[in-house]
Amino acid sequence: MPRSARPAAEIEAALLREFLAAGEGCVSGAALAKVVGLSRVAVWAHLHRLETEGFAFEALHSRGYRLTARPAGPSPALIRALVPAAPPLLFLDSVDSTNDEAGRQLTAGRAAPFIVLAAAQTRGRGRFGRVWHSPAGAGNLYLSFAFRPGLPPERMHLFTLWMGLNLCELLATTTGTAPQLKWPNDLHFGERKVGGMLTEARIDADTIRELVFGLGLNVATPAAAWPRDIAPRATSLACQAGRPLDLNTTAAALIERVLAAYSHFIVRPPRDEIADLWKRHDLLAGRQITVVQGNDTHTGTTRGIDDEGALLLRTAAGRTLRFRAGEVTLRKE
Ligand code: ATP
Ligand code: BTN
Repeated sequence: MPRSARPAAEIEAALLREFLAAGEGCVSGAALAKVVGLSRVAVWAHLHRLETEGFAFEALHSRGYRLTARPAGPSPALIRALVPAAPPLLFLDSVDSTNDEAGRQLTAGRAAPFIVLAAAQTRGRGRFGRVWHSPAGAGNLYLSFAFRPGLPPERMHLFTLWMGLNLCELLATTTGTAPQLKWPNDLHFGERKVGGMLTEARIDADTIRELVFGLGLNVATPAAAWPRDIAPRATSLACQAGRPLDLNTTAAALIERVLAAYSHFIVRPPRDEIADLWKRHDLLAGRQITVVQGNDTHTGTTRGIDDEGALLLRTAAGRTLRFRAGEVTLRKE
């Protein structure tokens, strides 16, 4: 493709990469023009468009441009600049649910993998159709990854746990916090939820044709921003880290991690890795819990997971129960 026919998103990501490499320094208009193979006027037009997304550039006479501000909200251009190898990123200011949009795009035949990222969701969903609080401008991330794995359905049992453990590892390393996984799909700090995962699949003829992995993560949400019903049980990564966190840098890091974890998962089931990581991040380890499954309620002490990711519960009567799905409540200790 001739350079001038490149999509704007790609050109702008390449320009931003030059600014990120220069840090506080200047990049000359000529250098920018050379990198993207466009005229200086065309470069200026792209910088101007990026300003509408929340970037600010200072023009310094005969020295070029300096990046002086980045958007606080989700910026597809910045994420692309930070993750050059990311698959196509579909960005929407608002959508019903990024999982639903990813599903629609798959049904319409869009090539996978791709990512759907939204600044807000009007019908963000959790398990059992519960509402996932998804306003714009709140410092939360809402995104879904779409894949066509072509694996047998039983290979997917460990998928959400594997993703959750990878996210716990990543967030622990990048923020110095100790996030925990609440079986099967919640990211927590103690009693407070920082994120949730929603994995949905379409299975045809014993093969997983389409897979959507949705993630909602509260990155920079201020404590005062929560609605009253969620406030006592929600938190954000920045609150836990005790310092501001950049939404786009966090998004870029987690996109890289999810893609790497997916590639690893597709090659072989990561049973040993999960057993290891489980010891570090299991919120429920040895805790008294109640599991609700349909109309049945069971109480007991957790005994970890088996090699298919099912939760093991030891009852007071000495029986060990195994749950492939269910809703867990921690009992006060
Ligand atoms: P929990 O264990 O917290 O009761 P759950 O796993 O049973 O949750 P889910 O469907 O996983 O239920 O999650 C939806 C719940 O998460 C909602 O009912 C609400 O309480 C909470 N919630 C909704 N949005 C957010 C958010 N952005 N951050 C943290 N918690 C949220
Ligand atoms: C849960 O806690 O039950 C899972 C919550 C998952 C929320 C994310 S936000 C992005 C994606 N789109 C949705 O509608 N849900 C997931």
